[in-house]
Amino acid sequence: MNLAVFCSGFGSNFQALIDAVRAKRLRASIALMVCDDPKAYALKRARKHHIPVVLINPRLFKTREAYERTLVSILKGQNVDLVVLAGFMRILSTHFVRAYRNRIVNIHPSYLPAFKGSHAIRDALAAGALETGVSVHVVTAAVDSGPILLQEKVKIRKNDTPKSLEARIHRVEHRLYPLAIKRYMKKLSDVVLSRRGTNG
Ligand code: GRF
Repeated sequence: MNLAVFCSGFGSNFQALIDAVRAKRLRASIALMVCDDPKAYALKRARKHHIPVVLINPRLFKTREAYERTLVSILKGQNVDLVVLAGFMRILSTHFVRAYRNRIVNIHPSYLPAFKGSHAIRDALAAGALETGVSVHVVTAAVDSGPILLQEKVKIRKNDTPKSLEARIHRVEHRLYPLAIKRYMKKLSDVVLSRRGTNG
């Protein structure tokens, strides 16, 4: 399967996917990395591993739909099968979600449905929660709400800071994301095979 990984920042999850592909723990190809920020460190990772980059500034488009239409045509042109959001700080509208229905996954730093949104780690600490976690889910039009593929809890320690908690969450993410994608790819290809079977 051809993956497109979407990043806006540091890209440590992107790196975990690169490593999993290189180690053949994930039998897929990262066809491209899509980025919306020219300052993202993830760009350096892509360059280092010779992964083609699509860096487009959404502000150059009149509407979000126009931006997403361009993205979809690039992805289709590169035969992308699965879109992998890895710290992509932009909400994808129904236009994009429909074009890649059931073929977009995301990783979120909480045990969903708890602590949705872009400050999940800070919110878990501020709420005085005893535990939080990591969730990998299928992306639907509703933010952080699609079907869960894999989840794991992470305990919050008394002396945790956003930084220390984030570091432990990241360790779990880097292990969970390649595994969740591997299982989901298997599920998707089983569906394709069984459809072919039915159609003769
Ligand atoms: C991760 O914590 C992920 O759960 C969230 O954004 C963060 C991205 O981190 N969606 P990185 O860019 O992969 O290091």
